[in-house]
Amino acid sequence: MGEDVLRVLDERTKSTFDMPFFKGAIRAMDLRKIKTDGTDFGVMSYDPAFLNTASCQSAITFIDGDRGILRYRGYPIEDLAENCTFLEVAWLLLFGELPNEADLANWVHEITHHTMLHETTKKFLEGFSPDAHPMAMFISTVAALSTLYPEARNVRDAASRRLQIGRLIGKVPTIAAYTYRHSLGYPYVYPDNDLNYAENFMNMLWRMVEPKYQAHPALARALDVLFILHADHEQNCSTNVMRSVGSSEADPYVSTAAAAAALSGPLHGGANEAVLKMLDEIGSKDRVREYVDHVKAGHGKLMGFGHRVYKNYDPRARIIKWTADRVFEVTGRNPKLDIALELERIALEDEYFIQRKLYPNVDFYSGIIYQAMGFKPEMFTVLFAIPRTVGWLAQWQELLEDPEQKIARPRQIYVGHDERRFVPMEKRVAKPSAASR
Ligand code: CMC
Repeated sequence: MGEDVLRVLDERTKSTFDMPFFKGAIRAMDLRKIKTDGTDFGVMSYDPAFLNTASCQSAITFIDGDRGILRYRGYPIEDLAENCTFLEVAWLLLFGELPNEADLANWVHEITHHTMLHETTKKFLEGFSPDAHPMAMFISTVAALSTLYPEARNVRDAASRRLQIGRLIGKVPTIAAYTYRHSLGYPYVYPDNDLNYAENFMNMLWRMVEPKYQAHPALARALDVLFILHADHEQNCSTNVMRSVGSSEADPYVSTAAAAAALSGPLHGGANEAVLKMLDEIGSKDRVREYVDHVKAGHGKLMGFGHRVYKNYDPRARIIKWTADRVFEVTGRNPKLDIALELERIALEDEYFIQRKLYPNVDFYSGIIYQAMGFKPEMFTVLFAIPRTVGWLAQWQELLEDPEQKIARPRQIYVGHDERRFVPMEKRVAKPSAASR
């Protein structure tokens, strides 16, 4: 038997099947060769929640969850966070290499000149109730961009794709800032082309009557670093949605909106907001142990803890902790930090968390920084969505250029009724059903 083959013995038929390894995996379609007879459909793999299924080949982001490694296009996240701007990293993720000076200058110019929203988009936003969740407004408004750029449906046209990518990256901070201003009832602030990506976002959020917004350089840099850390994370829930929706050749605006919807859940990007709510609920350092015991007894989860892939530590959390110190030098220390540190200390010493390899993830400390910078918790997931738009688009582009990809269409194991005789209305009896649950 060759070393690059997985040999399987089917005890039902006593037949053996050889499945060649493909880059360390087996192709699920090879399982279909395993049949009891010619009429048999063949074996499928059953993998709810994709615990062990690679859905694509990707050259964008590498994670080694056991060793706590994260790299974009081969570059360690630590180096990128220390040395690059967010737009530099965006270029790297999208086009595969670090940009040279001219590339970067052109890219910054391009993104800067796509930050304006069509005036109808402002009117669209005005229709939302001021107390609508900013993430709900963000998702809907990104989807609404599809109405303005119908040519974006031509997803097989590389030049059109490139244009939509620039538009989306330019416009998401503007949409995010407008959701914030809308919720406060403040007038929208137009983008300022003299400012960099993070500074301009801060300008659109916080400029009041001053003629020119001056972002604090340390805070703008911290925001830029946070954007770098959140830019991509291989096949997470929202990226999987981006690829899945994109695989039907839906346009990038509605695909991005769908990905953002997936991000909004508390188990994914919504965790940063949930962490702050949890810290508020705990209230003080001396109540942390009680809260941890409550979680261990099966009441909820420690938000900002645990990760499907990282089983050692989340390298982003370490950089975030470092960034938090830089931010607190300017803003003063967020009192919630003490509760968070105590929570981390107690959880990391506790058998329950040690055994399950539960460590603080990217969302554990990001909210504390965002709050110190002046963001309200409802904005936190929107702050995640801005940079992740780059990752979604990089993955979307890779999907469309991959000749092996087709419309995403998982199989199922049907466990419902066999064929039943139709029951007319007058013969139907009342039974507890899903509708009454
Ligand atoms: N607090 C308490 N127990 C937990 C937690 C937690 N945060 N996370 C997992 N567990 C337990 C879980 O109950 C299970 O225990 P048992 O084996 O006794 O049933 C065990 O640990 C394994 O958990 P799992 O649910 O099988 O793990 P998963 O890979 O399916 O879920 C996760 C990963 C991130 C959804 C989960 O850890 C979680 O819900 N964490 C809290 C929400 C959170 O912080 N999400 C942000 C993730 S990082 C940023 C991002 O990707 O958006």
